[in-house]
Amino acid sequence: MNQSQRIVLIGPMGAGKTTVGRQLAKTLGMDFIDSDHEIEKRTGASIPLIFDLEGEEGFRQREMDVIDELSQRDKLVLASGGGAVLLLENRQHMHDRGTVIYLHAEIDLLLNRTRHDHNRPLLQTENPRQRFTELMTIREPLYRETAHIVINTGKQSIAHTVNKIIAALEEFQA
Ligand code: S3P
Repeated sequence: MNQSQRIVLIGPMGAGKTTVGRQLAKTLGMDFIDSDHEIEKRTGASIPLIFDLEGEEGFRQREMDVIDELSQRDKLVLASGGGAVLLLENRQHMHDRGTVIYLHAEIDLLLNRTRHDHNRPLLQTENPRQRFTELMTIREPLYRETAHIVINTGKQSIAHTVNKIIAALEEFQA
């Protein structure tokens, strides 16, 4: 099975990895898994509870195990967590085993999409804008280094983004 049978979506919280990924998988007739949902399913605990009990480090270990396993599955669209690119091992596994798509979005949009969210421990802060800015300073280069394809997303529909991805995949694989 070649790399094109595995697609991995990366990008920050609120970029649309889960919604876009699910629709992309449906359109391409592939399976879809979100790594956070998979971790929650396996542990029976929510992401905030895992952060509470095991800290970010414990969560990253679980995330690494899930990404290692899922990045070897065939016919899969995998939506990774926003911090998955922090570990070199994850970056290598995703890049070497699949076609990696970075969903890029401006911070204003990310803030808007996540403003009522209580399920993301890193955003439970007084100043989410500052948090996003700090995270993106570190992560933006990692997203770009890991991705084969960068898709700029804005306020356009999910269907529009999915079409853009499919066109970019065709060009990339040609
Ligand atoms: C995180 C992003 C979250 C989740 C966890 C940590 C991050 O995933 O993995 O809260 O470090 O950016 P989403 O990007 O799907 O929200």
